[in-house]
Amino acid sequence: MCGIVGYIGNEEAVPVLMNGLAKLEYRGYDSAGISVYNDGICTIKSKGRLSMLSDKIHGEGVVSSHIGIGHTRWATHGAPSDRNSHPHNSQSGKISVVHNGIIENYMDLKAFLEEKGYRFASETDTEVVAQLFDFYYDGDAVGTLRRVIGKIRGAYALAIMCNDHPDSLVAVRKDSPLLVGLGHDGNYIASDIPALLEYTRDYYLLNENEIVFLKKEGVTLYDLDGNQIHKDVFHVTWDIDAAEKGGYDYFMMKEIMEQPQALKKTVFPRLTERGISLEALSLTEEEIKNFNRIHIVACGSAWHAGIVGRYVMEEINRIPVEVDIASEFRYRNPILSKNDLCIIISQSGETADTLAALREAKKQGVKVLSIVNVVGSSIARESDDVLYTWAGPEIAVATTKGYTTQLSMLYLVALYFAKVRGSVDEMRFQEYLRELRLLPQKTEDILKLDGKMAELAKRYAHCEDVFIIGRGLDYAAAMEASLKLKEISYIHSEAYAAGELKHGTISLIEEGTLVIAIATQERLFEKLVSNVKEVKARGANVIAITTKGGKDMEAVADEVIYLPKVADIFTSSFNVLPMQLFAYYTAVERGCDVDKPRNLAKSVTVE
Ligand code: AGP
Ligand code: GLU
Repeated sequence: MCGIVGYIGNEEAVPVLMNGLAKLEYRGYDSAGISVYNDGICTIKSKGRLSMLSDKIHGEGVVSSHIGIGHTRWATHGAPSDRNSHPHNSQSGKISVVHNGIIENYMDLKAFLEEKGYRFASETDTEVVAQLFDFYYDGDAVGTLRRVIGKIRGAYALAIMCNDHPDSLVAVRKDSPLLVGLGHDGNYIASDIPALLEYTRDYYLLNENEIVFLKKEGVTLYDLDGNQIHKDVFHVTWDIDAAEKGGYDYFMMKEIMEQPQALKKTVFPRLTERGISLEALSLTEEEIKNFNRIHIVACGSAWHAGIVGRYVMEEINRIPVEVDIASEFRYRNPILSKNDLCIIISQSGETADTLAALREAKKQGVKVLSIVNVVGSSIARESDDVLYTWAGPEIAVATTKGYTTQLSMLYLVALYFAKVRGSVDEMRFQEYLRELRLLPQKTEDILKLDGKMAELAKRYAHCEDVFIIGRGLDYAAAMEASLKLKEISYIHSEAYAAGELKHGTISLIEEGTLVIAIATQERLFEKLVSNVKEVKARGANVIAITTKGGKDMEAVADEVIYLPKVADIFTSSFNVLPMQLFAYYTAVERGCDVDKPRNLAKSVTVE
């Protein structure tokens, strides 16, 4: 959500900013803009895609400059428009600001500033920062920013440029991501690493309210009291190709196909000959043995992974597990007690609600273990323990490898706990490990359904409503499948617990309605066959996803997709794969922008 790029150095600033913003497009945005300096601040901004901004920049003549800030906006306050796009400048034109987040007390500040004679040009909350900075500005950018931070409330990553100091930038973050890139010929700031990867692999990760002062020659960091601070350089090791499409039409397809590799990287290093070794956890065996309850908290697909986690964890650990949507958890005054554990799941590690839920759990004195993909992200840094999914950068808004690696990490945690607690016998434990080892290979085999799913997508891409049904772990998969379809193909779709359909929703089934039935757990197979019969009797077209041997399904469904057999607890890793492919091809058929679906953002950094 929103992208910030800033640069100061020997290179031409405009291409560096535009290039960086292009790499951040995946985060989701509705407008974009840049400010550079050449004998004064020059700001160009535009509603719409970056190409529109680029046309405008070239139309007006590219300004030569060696300093600048750039932004892709995901509107929260004020419609997407040229006027509301960032950067926002102070009325005097002296200060230019880009912002990611929400200034919650902007109305009060606006009233205060209006009284002082400031006139506002946009409807955004951000503009108050530019004006307030201008109001307090005394030539000391860091000192002024500290005063501004003292007045604003909310979430912010801010990058600020001042007209009378065109040799420096100042920036800060709180609850929104921002990092500093350290180059040879200059220095950078950005919301995320892919924006800067072609310029540098060395970064400073900023903690809450740390202020960064950038000059061409170097970077200085300060805390909120104005004391200079020092931090270690974070070195990025992944290669640039990981953030490129590598011959695929869309990142999403590349990432779907990367799943076997991503699973290998996540699972294999944690399997020993006869057990599981997780990186040094602060959780003691004693604590693990004494857990009363586990709370899994996340948003979107990560929440769906959490639902799978509950089934698996309860099945093999016999610990009660609650799964919450982070935005609900944080405001429902959750009851957490001493021997509870909170598991936070997040691909980006920056989701605002998930981060807030983590803080709530910590405030209540409960240990937090997080499962995160982005190394060094806020959630990773604030958790007591972090287990990384080694999926590599995920660029497509719709998560695929992020989700399936989260599942594999949950299996590892559940099995690790089960071993410590002695809740699973050795034979079964070894059987589970054997199946875990086969996960990447079987994933690769299932992805060969590619052609079949493309064919089905062609046949059903015209549908306007799709129902996806399943029970237990297949219901969890149905939810994830439905979200995939909705977010990228814009088809209305609902996931239903198969047994719940007849309590209302079945009234929506009519001649030709597409129902996808997922039935991969042996003990629930027959139940699903009956549910398929019920919708068939009302005219539905049914695609069934089941495991090899589930022959009875052929007699009732129109199409049957077969998956390899696996222990029930791992089935969610397989049943979602054909649905990722189906959603992808349906979106392509419908001419949708697969990687950048409308209104969505990759990293949801506002609540
Ligand atoms: C997944 O396809 C979605 N785009 C979305 O639901 C996502 O899973 C959610 O926003 C959580 O993101 P996170 O894993 O980065 O916290
Ligand atoms: N709240 C700001 C706005 O609406 C920033 C949004 C963003 O993070 O892109 O302009």
